[in-house]
Amino acid sequence: MVVLLKNTSSHQDLIVTPPTEGISLHGSVKIPGDKSISHRALMLGSIAQGKTTIQGLLLGEDPHSTAACFRMMGATISELNDTEVSIEGIGLGNLREPKGVLNAGNSGTTLRLMLGLLASHGDRFFTVTGDDSLRSRPMSRVVKPLAQMGATIWGREDNAFAPLAIRGRQLQGIHYHSPIASAQVKSCLLLAGLSAQGKTTITEPALSRDHSERMLKAFGAELSVDRETNSVTVVGRSGSLQGQNIIVPGDISSAAFWLVAAAIVPGSELLIENVGVNPTRTGILEVLAMMGADIVQENERLVTGEPVADLRVRYGKLKGCAIAGDIIPRLIDEIPILAVAAMFAEGTTTIKDAAELRVKESDRLAVTASELNRMGAKITELPDGLEITGGVTLTGCETDSYTDHRIAMSLAIAALAAKGTTTIHRAEAAAVSYPNFVSTLEKIIQ
Ligand code: S3P
Repeated sequence: MVVLLKNTSSHQDLIVTPPTEGISLHGSVKIPGDKSISHRALMLGSIAQGKTTIQGLLLGEDPHSTAACFRMMGATISELNDTEVSIEGIGLGNLREPKGVLNAGNSGTTLRLMLGLLASHGDRFFTVTGDDSLRSRPMSRVVKPLAQMGATIWGREDNAFAPLAIRGRQLQGIHYHSPIASAQVKSCLLLAGLSAQGKTTITEPALSRDHSERMLKAFGAELSVDRETNSVTVVGRSGSLQGQNIIVPGDISSAAFWLVAAAIVPGSELLIENVGVNPTRTGILEVLAMMGADIVQENERLVTGEPVADLRVRYGKLKGCAIAGDIIPRLIDEIPILAVAAMFAEGTTTIKDAAELRVKESDRLAVTASELNRMGAKITELPDGLEITGGVTLTGCETDSYTDHRIAMSLAIAALAAKGTTTIHRAEAAAVSYPNFVSTLEKIIQ
């Protein structure tokens, strides 16, 4: 048995033991729905008029958090499944004051995007919270611009951390120059701007994922994008949103684990089907190509406004590279698994301009370095990135996910190419974005 899940008293260990004669990975993989698009489809469906259907929704814990919150505010959302979820929206501005605390769980996207809607729901009172990780993640990045629009939000440490309390208000549109390239900040303000007086414009220093822009337009919002300046403008109170039929593509951030796994495990070839290849998300493909990976896009198509393709990846020799600048927001969630690829490349890989990783579900720079170094990696933590020496031999050992889904899965892929047994504690975290990760891994190992 190469892969084994073991329940402990409070958590789940994933134990990976590649046989001494080695393994390779083969077959085709169906990845779960895109997390970012799933959240947005649930939210816009809830505030639109009429019926929305969603096919291919991610059934991870994060979208369940979003659905639970919007049900508490009056949206009728069928049981979540990946065949067809249906939502009876309650119309823009009609979210009800919930009787209890809205709980976003582990999901920064749920909390930050929802905050834009709550803050703009006049005269209603809301309280929001999340798990230990989410309650330690910065909320001032959305609370401050919302306050400039006239929002009233209270929270711990000068309104910087959840739990937060919100008194909805009629907001005023602003032009916000965001200091960070963050789709969560941009989307929060766009959602607030839907009901604000006048126009709301967000300019970001580099382009972050644009799923909100695409989906808001599809639902009928009056929205314009200026690619020259990385700005997006929404016109407030310009009419209702209309329910849509959404097909969610597979998540490239989940595909990333298989792309790297096949690229580093000798003799492997995988076909990853139905992957969202929106250009604001494909930094991982560009970097792996730069490193010399053999990845081919097949069957390219457009599915409800999002580009989609199948990705074929074969094992090949990798070389180190430098990753920095405007590409960072386009691969922000893939940095831990790129660090795994870099350990198996020739030469050094440096990652810079990625300080945002310190405020994700864990401090991903610190945790990636510490957990992979336990296995024998040579990774130096930089203030805003990582320096990874390639060509090392990894040895299995005890590691920890720090309850971060992407760390749990990155460690599992590193373990496939290590000598001996690796144990990943708190591996159940993977279910946040990839509930079938372990069964898929079992299926492709040969
Ligand atoms: C997301 C945006 C990114 C990303 C997160 C999902 C989104 O966060 O890391 O996993 O759906 O908008 P930031 O906007 O904080 O960079």
